[in-house]
Amino acid sequence: MKVKVESSNPIKKKTEMLCGFVLEDSDKILGINKINSKISDSVKQSIKDNKGELGKLTVIPTNNKTPAKRILLAGIGKKEKITQDTIRFVSGKIAQKARELNLKEFSLVSPPSFVNDPIASASQITEGCKLSLFSFDDFKAKKESRSPDLTVFVPKSNKITNAIKTSEIVSDGVIFTKSIANLPPNKCTPTTLANFAKSIAKKSKMKCFVVSKNELKKKGFGGITAVGQGSKNEPKLMVLEHNGGPRGQKPIVLVGKAVTFDTGGISLKPGEKMDEMKFDKCGGCTVLGIMKAVSELRLPVNVVGIVPSVENMPSGEAYRPGDIIKLYNGKTAEILNTDAEGRLILADALAFGEKKYSPRVIIDFATLTGACIIALGTNVAAIVSNDEKLKKQINESSVRTTEEVWELPLNDDYMDMIKSDVADMRNIGIGRAAGTITAAAFLKNAIEKTPWLHFDIAGVAWTQVATKSKPYNPKGATGFGVRLILDYLQKI
Ligand code: BES
Ligand code: MN
Ligand code: ZN
Repeated sequence: MKVKVESSNPIKKKTEMLCGFVLEDSDKILGINKINSKISDSVKQSIKDNKGELGKLTVIPTNNKTPAKRILLAGIGKKEKITQDTIRFVSGKIAQKARELNLKEFSLVSPPSFVNDPIASASQITEGCKLSLFSFDDFKAKKESRSPDLTVFVPKSNKITNAIKTSEIVSDGVIFTKSIANLPPNKCTPTTLANFAKSIAKKSKMKCFVVSKNELKKKGFGGITAVGQGSKNEPKLMVLEHNGGPRGQKPIVLVGKAVTFDTGGISLKPGEKMDEMKFDKCGGCTVLGIMKAVSELRLPVNVVGIVPSVENMPSGEAYRPGDIIKLYNGKTAEILNTDAEGRLILADALAFGEKKYSPRVIIDFATLTGACIIALGTNVAAIVSNDEKLKKQINESSVRTTEEVWELPLNDDYMDMIKSDVADMRNIGIGRAAGTITAAAFLKNAIEKTPWLHFDIAGVAWTQVATKSKPYNPKGATGFGVRLILDYLQKI
């Protein structure tokens, strides 16, 4: 989908569908004055019928009485109830309507500043429309019809035009994440992901290197090696470096769990919904999508993306409960459940990231625990951190992007829950208590001194039965975290 920006009078636009927002119980289309008198009565009546009800769409045929073939009214509810998500949400519905009508293009009038900040509106419209038209149909004979192009009507301003360009790149980052995260496990192995990493690096001149099985073993990545050893699809660690900041500036390091399929290993998972464990690579895919956008946006900061990737399989070569392994930082872990694999590969990657890059901040993403879904459900990610400032910044970006987070505590009592009798740590806590926190406790042990924030995205990384339906999150991977972190990186 292409996005064009115009600042002329939308009423004069020749378009297949001219769309505008309507506030609850108002008699106007926001940003559109004086509609052609030949159809104004019918428009007035339609506005009354629409009532400005949040998300309600009304299509009005104009029978060639205006340059626009159709007018679409989109209710956005009460002015006081408008959030950072309202315009994104309703824009998504509009774009899907345009696709349903098989249009080649449509036009949308941004709401005036008394309703919503115009720069935010421009971004939210772009994101809402672009993301809602994504569909994962790589493996279907019948593809979704072509995405219609969008013309947005906004006040003339370089800031707004730039915000739209930025949002296009951000949305393409999310779409990239969704499109690789949705891939089935027989079509996406650690090697496949490493090739994706190389190809985005090549396109935008990032540095990229991939560490393969033998070298991982030699260099002491004991967690990645152990988890990966049960599969014939060999483990990989991929690293992308965006050097947009001053030379010598400490980078932001982003780490993402990419288990291309999690059977649980020897501690095999039950069969029900095991297919969903193809989404256990979502954290890594989020990091790749962020890096792609960071480089395309040429953000003036140094950012490093690190993705440890394995397939967790049971086999004659697989690691076992009872094994004691040595992680990258030299600490040992007693394996009590081979299904608690994410923390092992992440601990290696976090320790490596801290040692190699002395970062100012480390942030990780992982579909780490089923317990996270029990605690917070499927619309809010858990965060755990050792740094107040970082937490505050992430919370602010969370509000702006409506990628919701909730903090869980991590004090020393939780750290005690992963103490082992025979090694430095156990890879699971005691019973099922505080499963999300004990997993985070394991990660914390991999970090020496850097401000760190962990996202458990087990509930939000893909749409599940309890997921709130949003047009910009069609079924499958959501790309959670891409928009949030790109907002954070633009604000620091
Ligand atoms: N990838 C899973 C976590 C998961 C499960 C995410 C379901 C989303 C939906 C992770 O590797 C895992 O299996 N965790 C175990 C940990 C347990 C053995 C301590 C879990 O949550 O059951
Ligand atoms: Mn697991
Ligand atoms: Zn897993």
